[in-house]
Amino acid sequence: MSTQSQTAESPANEPNRDPVLVDDWHVVARAKDVWEGKIMKVRLLGEDLVVWRHEGRVMAWKDLCIHRGARLSMGWVENGEVVCPYHGWRYNCEGACTLMPAHPDQTPSKKAHAIVHRVEEKYDWIWVSLGDPQHDVPPFWQWDDPAFRKFQAGPYYYRANGFRTIENFVDASHFPYVHAGLNGVQANPDVIKPYKVYRGEHGLYTDEIHVFQPFGDHRGRPVNSGYTYHCFRPLTAYFSKHTVLADGTGGDDDRFCTFTTVQPVEENESVVWLGIAINFGPELTEKDILERQDQVFEQDREIVESQRPEKIPLDLREELHVRCDRLAVEYRKWLKEQGLTFGAA
Ligand code: FES
Ligand SMILES: [Fe+2]
Repeated sequence: MSTQSQTAESPANEPNRDPVLVDDWHVVARAKDVWEGKIMKVRLLGEDLVVWRHEGRVMAWKDLCIHRGARLSMGWVENGEVVCPYHGWRYNCEGACTLMPAHPDQTPSKKAHAIVHRVEEKYDWIWVSLGDPQHDVPPFWQWDDPAFRKFQAGPYYYRANGFRTIENFVDASHFPYVHAGLNGVQANPDVIKPYKVYRGEHGLYTDEIHVFQPFGDHRGRPVNSGYTYHCFRPLTAYFSKHTVLADGTGGDDDRFCTFTTVQPVEENESVVWLGIAINFGPELTEKDILERQDQVFEQDREIVESQRPEKIPLDLREELHVRCDRLAVEYRKWLKEQGLTFGAA
């Protein structure tokens, strides 16, 4: 909640405006859903935005007209400009007001400007930063590799905290329970062997973590899988799953890679965006692949939405940690070091 002393001029000081998140990149839409000449309304870190496209270029602005605070999302695009629905002020792609129809001869002042945010189009998503990112959008290493087919799954809407969602994504010990019969066997849960967590140029990553999966991917065949997890950013993670068919009939090169980024709509409301890269099973269709993802993420949604407290506790004395939670422990420490308060208990 804002207090009286906090103003629009000092957003980084508000409790929900941590620099680690404000100065980060967040996906707010699929690129293909942002059409020429159409305004899309999205929400990020508790702030309403408009996203629109003109001649290929994508803009993301605060959903607010500087004149009297009307919502630009109720307006429209005309000749490559956003028209405010209240008094018809027009804003060009730079966000500058070009026309105040009640005073067509008057040059709008420099202050008559939309509140413009940085945008990148990458991996077929629209990434927005509300601040000044000091780093690039994280790597999706297989994106340019023709040996991998790429798919977008989701988005999945979780009434849950984004950090709990990421922690769930990098947790191998829930498979036999939450994904029984798919990613694990409830009657014979995997023993998670010790693994290490490292810090590198792109955040945290692990050794390969081995599990048995009776229906480990869309082939529907038992596999032995090795997960290498990465937490690139507080809300962006990835794994490369090295799968070997349990009956020994396949090769050793099969990889199922998943890149996920969570859009923090509010502290406990998230949109999960998923990119998949896969170098096996060319006969399998996109439908086969997405159906299985939908099933797995629906199972995860139910469990993550049930967690209490909803916000992720960053004090390690809260909740209990065992050896298999090593990555989660390092993740929580890392979030705390970065000064996270939004969504943190
Ligand atoms: S509020 Fe937008 S033009 Fe007046
Ligand atoms: Fe899961």
